[in-house]
Amino acid sequence: MSYEKFYVTTPIYYVNDTPHIGHAYTTILADVLARYHRLLEIPTFFLTGTDEHGQKVQQAADARNIDPLKHCDEMVVRFQNLWTKLQITQDDFIRTTEDRHRQVVQEILSDLYARDEIYADEYEGWYCVPCERFFTRKDLADTTCPQCSRELDRLVEQNYFFRMSRYQEWLISYIENNPEFIQPEHRRQETLGFLKQPLADLCISRPKSRTSWGIELPFDSEYVTYVWFDALVNYISAVGYKTDDGMFQRWWPAEYHLIGKDILTTHTVYWPTMLKAMEVEMPRTIFAHGWWLVGQDKMSKSKGNVVDPIEMADQYGVDAFRYYLMAEMRLGQDASFTEDDFAERYDADLANNLGNMMSRVIKMLTRHCDGQIPRRPEAMSEEDRSLQSRVLAAVRAMSGYINTMNIDQAMTEIREVLRESNRYFEKMAPWTLAKQGKQEQLQRVLYNAAETLRIVGGLLFPVMPERMKVLRQSFGISPDVAEKPQLDQLEQWGALEPGKEVEDPGSLFPRSVMRDGGKKGSVEAGAAERTQASRRSDRGVEGVQEITAETFKQVSLKTGEILKAEMVEGSDKLVKLDVDSGEKRRRQLVAGIGKNYTPAELEKKKIVLVANMKPAEVYGVKSEGMLLAATEGKDVKLVTVDGDVANGATVS
Ligand code: MSP
Repeated sequence: MSYEKFYVTTPIYYVNDTPHIGHAYTTILADVLARYHRLLEIPTFFLTGTDEHGQKVQQAADARNIDPLKHCDEMVVRFQNLWTKLQITQDDFIRTTEDRHRQVVQEILSDLYARDEIYADEYEGWYCVPCERFFTRKDLADTTCPQCSRELDRLVEQNYFFRMSRYQEWLISYIENNPEFIQPEHRRQETLGFLKQPLADLCISRPKSRTSWGIELPFDSEYVTYVWFDALVNYISAVGYKTDDGMFQRWWPAEYHLIGKDILTTHTVYWPTMLKAMEVEMPRTIFAHGWWLVGQDKMSKSKGNVVDPIEMADQYGVDAFRYYLMAEMRLGQDASFTEDDFAERYDADLANNLGNMMSRVIKMLTRHCDGQIPRRPEAMSEEDRSLQSRVLAAVRAMSGYINTMNIDQAMTEIREVLRESNRYFEKMAPWTLAKQGKQEQLQRVLYNAAETLRIVGGLLFPVMPERMKVLRQSFGISPDVAEKPQLDQLEQWGALEPGKEVEDPGSLFPRSVMRDGGKKGSVEAGAAERTQASRRSDRGVEGVQEITAETFKQVSLKTGEILKAEMVEGSDKLVKLDVDSGEKRRRQLVAGIGKNYTPAELEKKKIVLVANMKPAEVYGVKSEGMLLAATEGKDVKLVTVDGDVANGATVS
């Protein structure tokens, strides 16, 4: 589906949080979508911002002995600076402490109160301070918070309620009749599942005696607004609801609210019912992405595994970081971040596939075509035509991938085009043509290769704006056109202008290198460390310590047979295996081989497993061992046994 305009939002981030890879991901995703829509010449509005009210902010400010607003003013800069660094092109950044937002929230509250959509009542419940959530007895198994497991406080107080329950039936049928409203499908089902329980009214006030840092209720100055009721309104207050009708008509409804899976209920139950009560149109799609795990673990401060986007961008470059996040996460599922994966993808996709190709083409143009774009080929060989049609097919496919939120597949498509063009280059061997003095053929190959890179550079521009601008400028494209690729130029083969000077920008993506201990180093340091690294790699087992036979004997390796295999829910990589390892009881293993084998292919396979591995929880699923597999890049092959051997036999 294509749109006449495109309004995309991120969640507004808690101002207290230190920005991490999860925040960076949603914002980069929104930026990539916004940039693609601009490339398609669709009017676009991209909103992000910060959520600045509530008890946690108040507590943090109190602890610093400063005014909460001053605290927010200081904290918000970390998000704003990060977005500048990550080349985020938001059209607006909203802070919930701004007057323009507060006034709209208060107007909405007054209006809903006047229309009896909000009423006062006594409230008895359990409250979690860190999560700022109330729970009723029926939501709880004990007196700990179902979200964070901390002890809850018991409260009885007068409060104000939004008549959310009134809209339950309407919401169910709206979701049922509008399949695109909540995406992906399993999140839509999750919301419908949630709505099977009776929906309670929503407590939307907090007495000032407990939390004063919030938007005051216009009809009772003893209370402030519940932080979620305030925060959700940002999506309309920023685009002129109740303040600028023209603007509001222009942008609302949003095409996409991008959110993480943990804030599904607030967005798919609270927000639509609030809008319904306000008589405002629904957003087109609320899209919940999965989480970034670190390896297989949840990211958390206490585990000390929080991935800092600034560190990653400094180490590999902002564009490479953006690319990795887009290429690695299948939208809707969780994804696993490891620096090794990142470095591997960086080297394979960016340094080799793209960077190498680019530098070979530029070097040959410099050497053999006077540093200029050669004239447009008059004739096309079969190979030329096949390259051209592959490239143009990718251009045509692109808007489909974007509209269906298959960003990772868009990256795969581009990767394949680059592979194809590398194959073309190898096959046409322009260096041989140069030696043989076949200038016309040589120019044709170089023109086609350069043209491919111009188009690929345009397709990748929304993801890697800085590097792709450099790439496009290297082929003589003027800076203003280089940074504003448009679809019609990309659909057109032969737009590179003969005679334009090419420029060698140096390595577009210098290779990353191994540091001692196997840790990947900065790509900027790449060139300097390369000689040393290649020397180290002569030893074959780089970064791995030698061990004695005694140490090896500490590992118990056994044969086993996979009896049953199934994917771990929510992961596209992890498979749960039921294994007969010759013991009384079967073992359950979780293995990261789901991208290489289907569960059906795994069943009945004889494997080798580490039998004395300490049991661990992977993705919330128990794993009692580890299977052996050979890994080369993304390619993983199971280690199996040659011939018939009993399950549980020792492997040594
Ligand atoms: N302030 C609310 C949102 C209000 S929107 C009206 C909030 N803020 S948050 O800062 O805690 O979270 C913002 C987003 O970050 C959420 O979408 C959440 O899912 C996302 N992430 C937090 N950790 C994440 C990962 N590890 N991976 C991906 N996204 C994650 O909630």
